[in-house]
Amino acid sequence: MLIESALEAQYLGQDEGLRLTSPLKGRLELARMQDLMGRYLPEPPALVGDIGGGPGTHANWLQERGYSVELLDPMPQHIETARAAGIDATIGDARKLPWEDEYFDAVLMAGPLYHLTRVEDRLTALQEATRVTRPGGFVAVVAINRTANLLGAMLANELQQRMPVVQEILDTGFSPANDRMAETTYHTVSQLRQEMTGHGLRSITVHGLTGPGGWLTVALDAHFRNQQPPATLTDPDPLHTALTCSRIADRFPELLPASSQFFAVGQRA
Ligand SMILES: C[S@@+](CC[C@H](N)C(=O)[O-])C[C@H]1O[C@@H](n2cnc3c(N)ncnc32)[C@H](O)[C@@H]1O
Repeated sequence: MLIESALEAQYLGQDEGLRLTSPLKGRLELARMQDLMGRYLPEPPALVGDIGGGPGTHANWLQERGYSVELLDPMPQHIETARAAGIDATIGDARKLPWEDEYFDAVLMAGPLYHLTRVEDRLTALQEATRVTRPGGFVAVVAINRTANLLGAMLANELQQRMPVVQEILDTGFSPANDRMAETTYHTVSQLRQEMTGHGLRSITVHGLTGPGGWLTVALDAHFRNQQPPATLTDPDPLHTALTCSRIADRFPELLPASSQFFAVGQRA
C-alpha cells in the first residue's frame, strides 16, 4: 500500500481535524483558503476534487456552499472521518488518481506538494491534478515556504533548539521525518512556479496563503495558547488583524515571500 510509515506516524498522533479550527494560525489559514478559493471557483453547483483532503475540513465548507466534492487521501483514519461527515471520500494517492480525464470543474491539492519529497512525484501529482480538471477549470495547490521554519522558530523563541532542522531546510528545501512532521518539502516561490509549469496550466498565480498576518498568529499561538493574552493584544481581535493584514498584502506581490504557505493556482488550458 502507498502509505509511508512516517506519514502514518505524523497523522496517527494528532487530530488533523483540529488543525484548522483550534489554533489561531489554523483559523487564519482556513479563512484565507475560503477567500482565495472563492476567487477562483465557479458558481455552485460545480464538482470539486479535494486531493490530500485529510478529514475534510475544506470539503465540508465547500459542500455547505453548494459544491459537490470528492475527496482522496491515503490515510484511512482521514477517510473514515470524512465519510462520517457525509463526504464522498476515497483512499488513494495524488500520483495516480482514480478519476477519468476532465472529471472536475476545479481541483484543490493541499498536502501532496509538501508531503511528496521527490520532484518527479510532485510533477506527477500536478500532471494528474491537471488531467482530471476540465479545460477552463482551476487547479489550486498549497506549498510551504522554505523560510517558514526560520521565522516560526524565531517567533516561538525556539530558534536555538531547532537550528539544526531550520538550517537543513534553508539549505536543502527538505526535512527528514522528525518529532513534529513526516518528511517534508519546502518551496521557494520560483521553484513552485517552475513545478506548476508544463502540465497544461496557464495564468499561474502564486498568493500568500497565510500572508504576513500569519506571523501574528504564530507568535500568539506559541506564547499564549490556551491562555488569555495581555489586554494590549486582545483589542482588536488578533485573528481579524491578521486577516486584514494578509488581505491587504495580496495587493503587494513583493510581500509574497512573507507568507509561511503559498497558494498557487492555474487554469487548465
Ligand atoms: C496537512 S494535511 C492537509 C489536509 C487538508 N487538505 C487541509 O488543507 O487541511 C495533508 C494531507 O495530505 C495527505 N497526503 C500526503 N501524501 C499524499 C499523497 N501522496 N496523495 C494524496 N494525499 C496525500 C495526508 O494524508 C494529509 O491528509
